[in-house]
Amino acid sequence: MPIDLEFVRSQFPAFSEPSLSHWLFFENAGGSFPCGAVTDQLSAFYSRTKMQPYWPAEPSAEGGEAMDRAKSRLAKWLGVTESWLSVGPSTTQNTYVLSKAFGDWLSKGDAIIVTNQDHEANSGPWRRLEARGVEVREWSIDPMSGRLNASGLEALLDGKVKLVAFPHCSNIVGEINPVAEWVGLVHAAGALACVDGVSYAPHGLPNFQALGADIYLFSSYKTFGPHQGIMVMSPDLAEQLPNQGHVFNGHDPTKRLTPAGPDHAQTAALAGMIDYFEAVDAHHYPEFDRSGAPDRVHDLFRAHELELTEQLLAQVDALGRARLIGPREAQHKAPTISLLCDRPGMALAEDLAVRGIIAGGGDFYGGRVLDAMGIDREFGVLRLSFVHYTSAADIENLSSALTELLA
Ligand SMILES: Cc1ncc(COP(=O)(O)O)c(C=O)c1O
Repeated sequence: MPIDLEFVRSQFPAFSEPSLSHWLFFENAGGSFPCGAVTDQLSAFYSRTKMQPYWPAEPSAEGGEAMDRAKSRLAKWLGVTESWLSVGPSTTQNTYVLSKAFGDWLSKGDAIIVTNQDHEANSGPWRRLEARGVEVREWSIDPMSGRLNASGLEALLDGKVKLVAFPHCSNIVGEINPVAEWVGLVHAAGALACVDGVSYAPHGLPNFQALGADIYLFSSYKTFGPHQGIMVMSPDLAEQLPNQGHVFNGHDPTKRLTPAGPDHAQTAALAGMIDYFEAVDAHHYPEFDRSGAPDRVHDLFRAHELELTEQLLAQVDALGRARLIGPREAQHKAPTISLLCDRPGMALAEDLAVRGIIAGGGDFYGGRVLDAMGIDREFGVLRLSFVHYTSAADIENLSSALTELLA
């Protein structure tokens, strides 16, 4: 079943916004457009229930119910219940709090493993634990391919390792890592796995249980939603980690690791993402009940993105003017295409902007990847990232612009 792009785009205010009509959007890895169901929920919350939630008075109670409903619907979509979700201001904020909790929990001499393929958010906060006596080991990428190999992980795992932090997909390399397989190795060594899903989740929210990770992180402002960081972990694990919130919130696994008060409106607006995904499912698969919707929507997005990735990579090959960072095979990639060219990434992004294309250049807070691959951070790469609402015509137009720029 091909994706109905007319339907999909009708669900996003950005596609009927006159001031955006002449722009092509290829910086989705930095943050996607929000769907209309999300902007509607935000606006409804701000106009009707913007007050302290959960009090007995009706508008206040209504606000609290909207927040609870949103969390429970998102949890269900991810294959868990709401006691598994912590909603924080961003993934970076979540990993800093989490690493502080692990720092309070681990003993001197314990070891953790981090990678140099991660965005700084799932690397730097963990590396700082070294100052607290934790041994930090780096699982390094292959400098040519940018790939993390399981053998590198196996060589570092031993009885001292308590945690391994790695990405589901790097925001530069774009390779989809075999999370379930690596989690199996981590668990066999008696350690926990913390997986950064920020660059994977925009391409279809995964089923958390199927991945098997102990902690999974993503940012809803990249998954068509409001600006929040979502952290998924079992209540059992959350309860073992030292409480980082107010002492009286320590009994609640969803509050122990999110010391800041929740952003009420944005929490409630998370429901809009699920409204959107359900609408996509109902539109494309009216013959089914909605129980298999998460997998169907994931696979629908993936199939469309795969075709477009193949189309763009073929154009990049034909051009022969750029080094592709990460794998060439579309089936191993999220549509996050980083190119090393003969000019700095930012200069190319500026030239694309003149041609009506929104893209970014630089190190994307993933400077360790560039260092390891021998690429100057300042020079950087051009990143072209898209999602399911991108069309073949968009890719064609992008390819023409790249041909002009790089030929
Ligand atoms: C792969 C990856 N991880 C983590 C982050 C940090 O997310 P946040 O902006 O929610 O802190 C980003 C942000 O771009 C990212 O791309």
